[in-house]
Amino acid sequence: MIDGIKTLDDFKLEGKTVLVRCDFNTPIDPATGGFLEDRRLRSHKDTLLELSQKKAKVVIMAHQGRSGEAEFTTTENHAKHLGEILGVKVDYIEDIFGKYARDKIKAMKDGEISLLENVRFYSEEETERPSDVQATTFVVKKLSPLIDIFINDCFGAAHRSQPTVVGFTRTLPSGAGRLMEKEISSLSKVHTSTKKPVVFVLGGAKVNDSIKIVEKALSSNVDMILTGGLLANVLLAAKGYRIGEPSIEIIRGKKFIEQIPMAKELLDKYEDRIVLPADVALNKNGERVEISVSNLPMDYKIEDVGSSTIQKYVDILKKAGTIFANGALGVYETPKFAIATEKIINTMAECKNAFTVIGGGDTVAAARNLNVEDKITHISTGGKASIMFLAGSKLAAIDALKNSVEGKVV
Ligand code: 3PG
Repeated sequence: MIDGIKTLDDFKLEGKTVLVRCDFNTPIDPATGGFLEDRRLRSHKDTLLELSQKKAKVVIMAHQGRSGEAEFTTTENHAKHLGEILGVKVDYIEDIFGKYARDKIKAMKDGEISLLENVRFYSEEETERPSDVQATTFVVKKLSPLIDIFINDCFGAAHRSQPTVVGFTRTLPSGAGRLMEKEISSLSKVHTSTKKPVVFVLGGAKVNDSIKIVEKALSSNVDMILTGGLLANVLLAAKGYRIGEPSIEIIRGKKFIEQIPMAKELLDKYEDRIVLPADVALNKNGERVEISVSNLPMDYKIEDVGSSTIQKYVDILKKAGTIFANGALGVYETPKFAIATEKIINTMAECKNAFTVIGGGDTVAAARNLNVEDKITHISTGGKASIMFLAGSKLAAIDALKNSVEGKVV
């Protein structure tokens, strides 16, 4: 059990048909249709191999992309690539819950693994409603009678209250897979860590979510928050710095101006624990130009944290016992403005005695590009989900598992 949720250890698996909700959602090369990376697919290896080795019939459900997007595609290649990762054949079933899929599931033998079609090909999957309502969707009603146990391993989509994420918890004995378990325990440990000081590095463009983390973190065990990205711009503006019209325009466009009063409150309350950039890098017609924040405003966009701030952040991180990083400190896609993000991730990798966690987006991409993934204690598969978890917000999938039923109610 973890946090009141059953795990694979709590079920007798041999001969059982187990439905596993995975998150295989992966960036796809528009030119070739191939995967640009396969971290999400690899992340479920422990769960799937354990189920197969314990002689369960393993039926996987997953989504890929969103309707209307270029990355919205079939799971056929996922099945093929997953088979290579697992070293076990993964049968692709070109159906979700129709008769073809149900017949294929009924014919499975112990230890076999099958992957159903992209669950978002059926429109009910795009709805977000409470788990008892999602239990009445067609996918849940049609598949539940064939399944013995539901295992949720899709931490990356844990914030989605969609039918295949939450619905089966109302109809089947349910539990967390090994990835879900690892995510819950690693991210929980960030908040309970006694390896001090505990330092967060927050950047990225999700200012609304990051501000919530700042509040929760500083009122719990976190000693210091180092800031970058749009979050830093909002905090600098809240502190009265004139960050310049091009940067204000971005904040205004994303409606983050509304966050300034909250940012002011946090700065008043925790002034010496929220660290703002003392210098920034502007994008002057494609060139990186560094400037102290006291010499702003300038008519160019702020696109990274400056060198003296980077050095200050590195010095703080080198003394940290626990580090969590989420979100790029600059415009990560442009090498000249990826400097701060890369330096922070490299420093985390060098902090061999610290407990280090990265969650989401460009920080995860940086760890991969710098080839230091194995030097970070835990790299979360959730972007939004990891932020929400650390901000103390409820995640639909975890909540549904905590309130799951023991038997079939549909
Ligand atoms: C993700 O990639 O963040 C998850 O798979 C959820 O995808 P979504 O934002 O399309 O629901």
